[in-house]
Amino acid sequence: MYPLLFRVVLSRLDPEFAHHAGMAVIRVLGVPSFSWATRALTAPAADQRVHALGLEFPSPFGIAAGFDKNAVGVRGLAALGFGHVEVGTITAIPQDGNPKPRLFRLIPDRAVINRMGFNNAGADAAAQRLTKLRRRRPDTVIGVNIGKSRVVDVENATADYVASATKLASLADYLAVNVSSPNTPGLRGLQAVETLAPLLRAVKEAAGRTPLLVKIAPDLPDDEIAAIARLAVAEGLAGIIAHNTTIGRDGLKTDAAKVEAAGAGGLSGAPLRARSMEVLAVVREAVPADFCVISVGGVETAADVQERLDAGATLVQGYTAFLYRGPFWGRQINRGLRSAR
Ligand code: FNR
Repeated sequence: MYPLLFRVVLSRLDPEFAHHAGMAVIRVLGVPSFSWATRALTAPAADQRVHALGLEFPSPFGIAAGFDKNAVGVRGLAALGFGHVEVGTITAIPQDGNPKPRLFRLIPDRAVINRMGFNNAGADAAAQRLTKLRRRRPDTVIGVNIGKSRVVDVENATADYVASATKLASLADYLAVNVSSPNTPGLRGLQAVETLAPLLRAVKEAAGRTPLLVKIAPDLPDDEIAAIARLAVAEGLAGIIAHNTTIGRDGLKTDAAKVEAAGAGGLSGAPLRARSMEVLAVVREAVPADFCVISVGGVETAADVQERLDAGATLVQGYTAFLYRGPFWGRQINRGLRSAR
């Protein structure tokens, strides 16, 4: 955990300001002379490599989508020990996202509520950054998460996803279709199998040889989760990312008035852990043993990551605990995984 003083300061800063300040430091860490020094402290050990999706991941643990929406911090995040960085969500059309405030800490729950709304600079800007990044060969796997542009109607979602996939697939180690954010109206409706099948088919064609994954919501009933998992296999996808934030608010310790005041948005962090284990079990049961399942939701410690791996996750991601545990979180997880062997 952060030292007490740091936690007090952190709890007083506006959460989005704190995120931008943290990202500024991470970008500096990505400058080659700094990243060399940081990596000496934080790099996963050589024996932590994992093979999945036809790729070599330096560690099974990566940073989930939403932290680096514009692919500006990949090298710094790699230097901090993350074995993959899923950038995005990126939309075909640049957008500002929802009005601020849109990110809220629930400190007693080690959780946050966000309704960022895919604020990002768009697929063209991301393609430029990723092109430069590729030339410098970062020491991490880069996933690119794509979503629907807000101004595009749900009925035209497929063409919008295909536009992003066409621009970004060749620059991504893997591509993730995000149909599970609660902050874009109508998006989660795309998870209905009849709607999802043609969407995934079209994006897969645009993705070419780049492995394609789909990221799902935890709020679907288990039978629908299993149906999506089977669909992903049938459509020749490379994997499933389970899962995004929840619209649920059950069992929180934070004062109910504070939760209510935060308003709409996706809840993430420690309260997701139990559901995340359930969703992992449902997905794993529905897909072949060698199908890639990335488990994400409520992971805080190396023991949590190991629990996911033991339950059949191929790879594990996290986001919210990075905000609470600080810059060496990736390193702590990698070291903890190693010493638990
Ligand atoms: C997210 N998440 C997210 N997911 C996604 O697919 N696209 C996105 O743009 C975002 N944006 C985003 C912003 C913020 C502030 C948070 C906290 C989360 C969801 C994230 O990738 C992850 O699925 C969930 O947060 C659950 O994991 P954790 O945070 O409990 O480890």
